[in-house]
Amino acid sequence: MRCWTARTHLSLFCALLLLLLLSLSVHCQWPSNDGICGPGIDIGNDISDFKKLENCTVVEGYLKILLIVNKNTNQEVFRTLSFPKLTMITDYLLLFRVPGLDSLSTLFPNLSVIRGRNLFYNYALVIFEMNNLKDIGLYSLRNITRGAIRIEKNPELCYLDSVDWSLIMNADLNFIDGNKQAKECADVCPGLVEDNPQCIKTTFSGVSNYRCWTSDHCQTGKS
Ligand SMILES: *[C@@H]1O[C@H](CO)[C@@H](O)[C@H](O)[C@H]1NC(C)=O
Ligand SMILES: *[C@@H]1O[C@H](CO)[C@@H](O)[C@H](O)[C@H]1NC(C)=O
Ligand SMILES: *[C@@H]1O[C@H](CO)[C@@H](O)[C@H](O)[C@H]1NC(C)=O
Repeated sequence: MRCWTARTHLSLFCALLLLLLLSLSVHCQWPSNDGICGPGIDIGNDISDFKKLENCTVVEGYLKILLIVNKNTNQEVFRTLSFPKLTMITDYLLLFRVPGLDSLSTLFPNLSVIRGRNLFYNYALVIFEMNNLKDIGLYSLRNITRGAIRIEKNPELCYLDSVDWSLIMNADLNFIDGNKQAKECADVCPGLVEDNPQCIKTTFSGVSNYRCWTSDHCQTGKS
């Protein structure tokens, strides 16, 4: 293609053209929906905002879910919401004050990669003041390519010590604080009750433990 072999000024023009085409494809409704959504998706104020995600396989940009204030928002409503097509977020995932949401396991069962191309401060995953969240439950998540996580002030949140973050990311700068105290959690990975552990056992932060996201879902190893 001539574009790529041309001199610098021409290449720049090509790059701009490409950007324009890309932004057009992002903003227009193409007849053949390719599942790329963006740039950035905000879900807030009303639970019906989740409709924005219905056809997305990739969120090109960030995904923010915050302050959903429907009076009838409760656990039952969230259990009917699921976006199994969504596999990747290219920037970051942020959750802030979504009452009634107790796990992300049904919501995003196939979310496997958060790229962290652009971060929220230094974070690719932020879970903050989610009062009813009991586990993260992103059991398909296997790579946070760039950025750290911040999981803070979620008073019911357990299954934090059962995740080995080093399997999916560089975990050095992770910040996890102010959640339910580990000793009050009693996390049980699949099979543990039957004395038949199903999950891998690894050492992370000096602690050897079975690895799972919820009582139903093991954390799988590096892939
Ligand atoms: C999802 O796809 C369906 C079928 O193509 C379409 O009717 C609907 O408007 C799309 N939803 C969004 C939010 O783009
Ligand atoms: C995840 O994606 C795969 C492949 O697209 C699909 O077969 C599977 O049903 C999805 N998982 C869930 C829980 O929907
Ligand atoms: C995540 O994916 C990137 C790019 O594919 C890779 O370089 C990195 O090693 C992966 N991280 C982990 C912890 O597997």
